[in-house]
Amino acid sequence: MNLIMLGAPGAGKGTQAKRLSDKYEIPHISTGDIFRANIKAQTELGVKAKSYMDQGLLVPDELVVDLVADRLKQDDCVKGFILDGFPRTLVQADSLDKALSAMDAKIDAAVDVDVPDEDIIKRMAGRRACISCGSTYHLQYLKPAVEGVCDRCSDKLVLRVDDEPETVKKRLLVYHEQTQPLIEYYTKKGSLVKVDGTLDIPTITIAILKHLSK
Ligand code: AP5
Ligand code: MG
Ligand code: ZN
Repeated sequence: MNLIMLGAPGAGKGTQAKRLSDKYEIPHISTGDIFRANIKAQTELGVKAKSYMDQGLLVPDELVVDLVADRLKQDDCVKGFILDGFPRTLVQADSLDKALSAMDAKIDAAVDVDVPDEDIIKRMAGRRACISCGSTYHLQYLKPAVEGVCDRCSDKLVLRVDDEPETVKKRLLVYHEQTQPLIEYYTKKGSLVKVDGTLDIPTITIAILKHLSK
């Protein structure tokens, strides 16, 4: 199963991707998590990406396209993969199609987790993220077993720099301008699956699984 998670910042792409990754036993590949790991390790890529991410802007296509194409060639992707946060521009979508056709593969579904902007702004202030494994939690909707500690890897949970309200607003603008056109792109290809992202977390997973099993 080769999946893409589409949706605005904070729509719940990562939350659902983790659950689908457990269910199908395929890797969850989040470009945002890859960049944050590089920032933490202070790599050259991390230094470049940080200047864009902190402002709520997209990292330039050329820094992300080859990185994903290489990642999809790794052994753990043979049974499939879940791309979370990629593609985010039409250029990226096009490059993904080319990389996949070179591997004789294609996207089975692009899942759009649909949440209105007002709900997103409310949600983001309560998000806490693990900087080691990328798991996200919520002070109200998805609490970790121990406050401030990641259930998966026991590292500490933080408020992401780009979750400040002003930066969230900027990310939403960038999403509507540059990423939303992908909804039409995948609709035309017949691979779009739209789910209501305002429902509770397990209900959304069930809705996605139902679509995918059709
Ligand atoms: P990225 O890390 O991908 O961030 P994003 O798209 O802004 O999305 P988020 O991770 O913020 O949200 P999410 O949809 O995963 O929501 P989550 O599950 O955490 O990218 C960060 C930056 O990196 C970008 O801004 C860009 O600069 C750069 N970048 C990355 N990829 C790039 C690319 N391809 N090209 C260029 N630049 C790129 O959920 C949010 C919160 O809500 C959590 O607290 C969660 O617990 C809670 N929640 C989830 N579902 C529900 C629910 N149903 N009900 C209530 N609460 C819920
Ligand atoms: Mg995420
Ligand atoms: Zn963790």
